[in-house]
Amino acid sequence: MSERYAVIGHPIAHSQSPLIHGLFARATGQDMCYEAIDGGAEPGGFARALAAFRASGGQGVNVTLPFKLDALAAADEASDDALLAGAANALRFDGARVQAQNFDGIGLVRDLEHNLCLPLAGRRVLLLGAGGAARGALLPLARAGAGRIVIANRTAAKARALVRDLAVHLPPACTLDGGGLDELRQGDAFDVVINATSASLGHDAPTVSASAFAAGALAYDMVYGKGLTPFLKQAQAAGCTRLADGAGMLVEQAAEAFAWWRGVRPDTRAVLARLAVPLI
Ligand code: ATR
Repeated sequence: MSERYAVIGHPIAHSQSPLIHGLFARATGQDMCYEAIDGGAEPGGFARALAAFRASGGQGVNVTLPFKLDALAAADEASDDALLAGAANALRFDGARVQAQNFDGIGLVRDLEHNLCLPLAGRRVLLLGAGGAARGALLPLARAGAGRIVIANRTAAKARALVRDLAVHLPPACTLDGGGLDELRQGDAFDVVINATSASLGHDAPTVSASAFAAGALAYDMVYGKGLTPFLKQAQAAGCTRLADGAGMLVEQAAEAFAWWRGVRPDTRAVLARLAVPLI
């Protein structure tokens, strides 16, 4: 019988994960099936959905909003990335034990470096937002060699708290600062500006001055499938010509989970080509 995997979220109907993992399974010849499960809005919904899926023979799950914190709480053991992000996006059932990983950050790094051909070594990175998405991205960006990371958030105190929490885990070659969006120094320019806020979901964008985009900078919005978001339009108006959304991050984190579950790493190019929505 096929081994079973799933993504649990709420809402979940829009999820591309069943399509992505179905394509990976076909391309790698893996006998598995992958479904979408709605954990519902009631308290305890995630734990119930997870228990039911395990009881029915499931082998592992991806976890998406709003359950990434619950996923970590459900785990018996967790990777450093999951522990430091305080959230998990992939679980694997090893007998009675639940193992947790967070592949969002590594998915972002792989997208930047492999798909968008932007090696991070020595780069200046502006990370907008201080919620779960920014937290998960910070250490993988630093580990990939970013020379300087600045976290800018609407609520300055949250950016400062994130710096306080994670600074000790940074490689020595990476400098880290954090504060309010309005505290960015005039003339401070970045090679990569990443929108890790949830503003695009509300058709809004954190305001960043045009001078924050260095010549040749890449503007990256973690949301996907929404075309030119207000953040990407803002970057374009600032003269930025390298624009990307989070489709590649989504596919790359899925490939990491697939490899962790199945022991074989799928090629992501064909899947990314199928999922990418033109940024027009
Ligand atoms: P996620 O897990 O997606 O990161 P989150 O933890 O709720 O979600 O964090 C959302 C982030 O987007 C926060 O950094 C939030 O800023 P605040 O800390 O000031 O709330 C940011 N955000 C949401 N809407 C925004 C907007 N319209 N403009 C700027 N930042 C916004």
